[in-house]
Amino acid sequence: MLGTPKLQKPQSRGKIATKPRSGNRNSGRNILVLHGPNLNLLGNREPEIYGSTTLPEIDRRLARLATAAGAGIECFQSNHEGELIDRIQGARARQVSFIIINAASYTHSSIGLRDALAASGVPFIEVHLSNVFARETFRQHSCLADLAVGVICGLGAQSYELALGFALSQP
Ligand code: DQA
Repeated sequence: MLGTPKLQKPQSRGKIATKPRSGNRNSGRNILVLHGPNLNLLGNREPEIYGSTTLPEIDRRLARLATAAGAGIECFQSNHEGELIDRIQGARARQVSFIIINAASYTHSSIGLRDALAASGVPFIEVHLSNVFARETFRQHSCLADLAVGVICGLGAQSYELALGFALSQP
């Protein structure tokens, strides 16, 4: 018998915003994690490609790592390009020191996201769960990668954790 499908609602409203644990000195680092379209379906969506870890599980792990390091973190998913752009535009005012972004399919098409990241001036890492270079040709082009500090892909949910480790290691 098939198990109950694990469907996550789009999380454009739901977010994890975590301040450093009391007792931990705030390192002054604030990390914004952005997830693009269809990533709310993780756990259920093509698990042979994207793995079985759900988006809330990924966000919880990231929040744990960030708060343990004394950093603030906010995770946000949207299926809407404009909502992601709004978050990027607001990043400076919210004193975000680093952005970790899996723009999902917008990676391959969105000049709007590229322009927003360029305008923000906030350093960012592009991440992907799957190895986009081992997939269809259209996934091998990124509108963001040349502006990124780095790109991490193909390591499943760990792609995010490695990106966060780097962001937290920055002065
Ligand atoms: C993805 C890869 C993209 O090509 C795809 O559109 C996604 C997910 C990844 O994390 O592997 O939605 O960004």
